[in-house]
Amino acid sequence: MCGIVAYIGDQRPGPILFDTLKRLEYRGYDSAGVAVKSDGNIEVLKSAGRIADLEKIYQMRGSPGESMGIGHTRWATHGRPSDINAHPHTSGEIAIVHNGIIENYLELRDHLTEMGYQFSSETDSEVLAHLIHFYYKKDLLEATIKALEHVEGSYALAVLAASSPYLVCARKDSPLVLGQGKSAFYLASDVPALLPYTRDVIRMKDGEIARVYADRVEMLDAGGMPRAVEIERITWDADAAEKGGYTHFMLKEIHEQPRAIRETIAGRISEIDGEVRLDLGMSDEEIRGLERVSIIACGTSYHAGMLAKNLFARAAGLPVDVEVASEFINLQIRPRTLLLGITQSGETADTLLALKKAKTCGGRSLAITNVVGSTVTGLVDGTIYTRCGPEIGVAATKTFTSQLVAIILLAIKLGRAREHLTPDQARKMLIELTKLPGLVQRVLEKREEIRKIAESYAHAGCYFFIGRDYLYPISLEGALKMKEIAYIPSEGYAGGELKHGPLALITEKTPVVALATCGRKIQSNIKEVRARGADVVALATEGDPDIAKVASRIIELPGTRPIYSAVLCTVAVQLLAYYTANKLGLPIDKPRNLAKCVTVE
Ligand code: G6P
Repeated sequence: MCGIVAYIGDQRPGPILFDTLKRLEYRGYDSAGVAVKSDGNIEVLKSAGRIADLEKIYQMRGSPGESMGIGHTRWATHGRPSDINAHPHTSGEIAIVHNGIIENYLELRDHLTEMGYQFSSETDSEVLAHLIHFYYKKDLLEATIKALEHVEGSYALAVLAASSPYLVCARKDSPLVLGQGKSAFYLASDVPALLPYTRDVIRMKDGEIARVYADRVEMLDAGGMPRAVEIERITWDADAAEKGGYTHFMLKEIHEQPRAIRETIAGRISEIDGEVRLDLGMSDEEIRGLERVSIIACGTSYHAGMLAKNLFARAAGLPVDVEVASEFINLQIRPRTLLLGITQSGETADTLLALKKAKTCGGRSLAITNVVGSTVTGLVDGTIYTRCGPEIGVAATKTFTSQLVAIILLAIKLGRAREHLTPDQARKMLIELTKLPGLVQRVLEKREEIRKIAESYAHAGCYFFIGRDYLYPISLEGALKMKEIAYIPSEGYAGGELKHGPLALITEKTPVVALATCGRKIQSNIKEVRARGADVVALATEGDPDIAKVASRIIELPGTRPIYSAVLCTVAVQLLAYYTANKLGLPIDKPRNLAKCVTVE
């Protein structure tokens, strides 16, 4: 998985390419490179390591380049991170950058080698450079079309040739957006990277290919027919994609959660009638006919799916199975199953693949995603957007709590349509839901208290998070956050399961975070670990009379119904992980070995 950019216009391409690439670093950052047109030739600069370092070398070389260039930030899939494997890849006067996987690259590589092409990298992408070179006579678009006819797999691709007056770009199963500026066009893997330059964007669709000049774009659709270019005006603020005064994007995004939740709810509920309005692409009659829900997701989104399991069962009387996408098998899918894909990016390869597989069994499908026009939206019958704005920190925060809220809305919608919830029950749930942003704000105001606790355990060798019912998935999410950004081995566990094994790991050196806002049963689990000498930090409801008797330290959270307290506990564990990682001086927004959006299986 990688990010690609390109520029054509009347400015020097280098500074623009580096700037847009830095905005895409969250997509991967083990190596980077640019190719720019310079004095009728192509000048390539690439290396393993961070983009900022490469930019310094570019400046030292006198910032070459005029009128056009392409760039790439890489997250290795085929071939280790190295100077040679970094993009752009070249063949004669052709240079390309690629995001995706060329599945038949070995076969293509053999053919091209027989024809005399020499490969200098271990990547799958290099075949694209040689193939396009093979077909390039005068017309770069034609050469790229011919080359792509031989390619199996996914790509977002930008192509530059020393003798071509235009750039070519193409996409299949990997995201790509064009931005129209004043006498310039920009290209990037996502919209926020383009915002400092333009708000007028053209989203490329699967199978499309374009010839890009500084003043116009000629777009061909998947069938090779010219299509009119539709320009979309982006209304969200460029500042939304900047840090806005916080030390890290993650901290900023944690603090954006009250607003993000409001946005997720906005215009979708009527508390007075107890109604939720979501465009699911399904009639109420179809909803009543449902027999089960099958949820597919990865990572943090999978934890959102786990919470949906208990909620849909209670609110809508629907049995639910939840599977991590990479382990998905079709067994549960029947025509009366609602298939639900949860993916903040809408681009996670495992989730997309599992959804495609599951869809062959019939039935209705839905997605919960944050990215408008992302690939998942083209696969399903209906989409619920979480509307959080871009999330830059690799660790999901606001997109997760908004997914939880979208799931709550969906549960109420299903519950009402199936008459499993009465209007009065739905009304009460919705009235309380409107108060959730304010309650999240109150948890954020506890940041100093949480920071002190986090810092006092920052050197722990291992962490435990325990919870029950709706708080079990949140304990998994707390442990995941601690692993992702603080690199502390952490376990999330169902409170009742501790005694079946993991209790053996508990010592006086193991901090245990007990999510204790729902029910009393967790208190016996707290006692179990206290008896083994562990410190217990309890997340408990304000005024809980018993918790002080069992826990070592308490973070009090506002009282609300159990399903909403899952959102409040999430915010507390996010802050705990954040301040732990911050104390340890770790690169919070870009943790080692991880990427925001995983577009490979
Ligand atoms: C990556 C990210 C995680 C995310 C997961 C699923 O691993 O680092 O934060 O939860 O992908 O992403 P999705 O976009 O499908 O929700």
